Amino acid sequence: MPSDLSPIDKAKFVAAKRATDYVENGMKVGLGTGSTAAWLVKCLGEMVREEGLKITGVPTSSRTAALAREVGIEITSLDEARWLDLTIDGADEYDANLNLIKGGGGALLQEKIVATSSDRMVVIADIGKQVETLGAFPLPVEVIPFGWQTTKALIEETLVGMDVMGRTTTLRLNGDTPFMTDEGNYILDMHLNRIANSRQLSLVINQIPGIVENGLFIDICDAVVIGYGDGRVEVR
Ligand code: 5RP
Repeated sequence: MPSDLSPIDKAKFVAAKRATDYVENGMKVGLGTGSTAAWLVKCLGEMVREEGLKITGVPTSSRTAALAREVGIEITSLDEARWLDLTIDGADEYDANLNLIKGGGGALLQEKIVATSSDRMVVIADIGKQVETLGAFPLPVEVIPFGWQTTKALIEETLVGMDVMGRTTTLRLNGDTPFMTDEGNYILDMHLNRIANSRQLSLVINQIPGIVENGLFIDICDAVVIGYGDGRVEVR
């Protein structure tokens, strides 16, 4: 383990390290995005360089692709790989049913496509990501730039009558300009506070024209590897 890690980084590192146990020679592995997933990519890179591990990685963002190349992991596109053995990715929230909010790093679209194309999805997270009910973390929604303000208004209108505690939706910014995803889309963050029925919300939101995908991952995750600041790890 690298020295001088803060408790939160230690938690992320130990979760990532433990998740490498799921990786076997010859596997096609979806590589997540974010600070926890970056630890995973670094750990796998070390195993490739020092232990001769042979895997093909499918990155979920341009950031992860760059890191994977840097650490020596062979990568390919999802279209080339077609079907993956395993995806390991971070999350912004997970609940007792292993449903997730993802997209804090703006990569939810590729992350959802890659995870859904995998036999198994394992989430790596520090214990701070655990919640009783999803929704304290703003739900990211990827929208096409055309007419995004209309899409935003439609989302807020759709939320009337749904069992959520907030309805404000904000455009994610990168400095003074809209944050742009790898697909050239925008992200709207929905400040809902509490999502009583995440399955229903996910289905309803995705019906709105202009929405590409939302950050709710329902029935996609198979296991969560949870790291603690003192170095303990738990698998659920
Ligand atoms: C990126 C994601 C990340 O997995 C999520 O935001 C968690 O990130 P981190 O590991 O940095 O806390 O969904 O779109």
